[in-house]
Amino acid sequence: MKILGIETSCDETGVCIIETDNNSSIKILGNQLYSQIVIHAQYGGVVPMMAKREHAKNLVPLFEKCIEEADIKKELNSIIDKLKEEKIKEILIRENDLFIDLKNLAQRIEKPDIDAIAVTNGPGLEPALWVGVMFAKALSELWNIPLIPTNHMEGHIVVASLIPEPETKSYKLKNTEYPAIALLISGGHTQLVLIKDDLQYQIIGNTKDDAVGEAFDKVARLLGLLYPGGKIISELAEKERNEFPNKLPPYTLPRPMIHSKDLDFSFSGIKTAVLYTVQKIPEITEQVKQEIACEFENAVVEVLISKTKKAIEQYGAKTIIIGGGVSANKKIRNDFEKMSDNLGITFLVPEIKSSTDNAVMIAVAGLLNILAGKKSETDFKANGNLSL
Ligand code: KG4
Ligand code: ZN
Repeated sequence: MKILGIETSCDETGVCIIETDNNSSIKILGNQLYSQIVIHAQYGGVVPMMAKREHAKNLVPLFEKCIEEADIKKELNSIIDKLKEEKIKEILIRENDLFIDLKNLAQRIEKPDIDAIAVTNGPGLEPALWVGVMFAKALSELWNIPLIPTNHMEGHIVVASLIPEPETKSYKLKNTEYPAIALLISGGHTQLVLIKDDLQYQIIGNTKDDAVGEAFDKVARLLGLLYPGGKIISELAEKERNEFPNKLPPYTLPRPMIHSKDLDFSFSGIKTAVLYTVQKIPEITEQVKQEIACEFENAVVEVLISKTKKAIEQYGAKTIIIGGGVSANKKIRNDFEKMSDNLGITFLVPEIKSSTDNAVMIAVAGLLNILAGKKSETDFKANGNLSL
């Protein structure tokens, strides 16, 4: 079975094709990702309407590249049925350029060998989500391909179960031992999720204010670093640790809610503490940036570890999963691995390249839902606040 994945929830346009046999082996046949980061960086954050426009501009070219890469593109003069064309035009009524791009493509190629389309329908930026959803609906209509609306956060969870098998250039889907706890850490979310069985999610902890990724990005901005600053903060922190392994931090930041009985988080306090710290320092040198980045990362990771450990103990979890863009963070990956080793439980984390937004995670989530019996849907909306 071949599945096309489409992701447009934020500032990455992702299109991929995965193939699976009955042996839970997954091959990524094509994987195209266009990052809009440079466009948004000058505004210090993602501008939703610009994100939407960029997705619309790039979806058809990325799709074409993806089927080329997957070797399933067949050039042929096709004629679109008039009625089909009208339906597609209606689906893409607010995206005329996208309609024209798709019509041109459909006249040049044969229906590619794709068995299902999985598209992110939330959560995320609604105008951005809509473009992907409309494009997926139009493809589904054009070539009669089943369509599966897919939750972005579920994608971040399931992609952690893809275990690379370098000899065959494929992946095996690891069977998860339940109960599992997933810690989702991204630009928009900080959640602890209890998973008692395949695709059964219960949110047991949430942030009361900022998401972790948001805190990284805001602190980066306070230090005069480019958006999105998570990765830069983490590199500065690592440099500080390597250069001064035994140094006591010259600035101390709070660990909000670390001792609270619940499994919730709060990160806006750390960010405000960084603001006050920065205001007191006459010159923000590279050294100061390193020191603050290091203490900030330490504070965040301590809170994440402490709350996740609490959740693991409370629910007797046998597996810990981390996912979302912030799970690309080296210290988080290392510290969670150590924690899991100490507790004797399985640790699942996506490959670094699959931690941040991509289409593979959506295709895999779509695949698991199809295998669990989910049927094609065409009458669904993009929902910026979609929950697990
Ligand atoms: O999951 P994601 O790609 O997009 C959302 O769904 O939000 O997450 C993006 C977030 C950004 O806030 C970015 O700064 C953060 O992930 N991030 C990192 C690292 N790489 C990306 N944060 C800390 N350390 C990193 N290495
Ligand atoms: Zn994400």
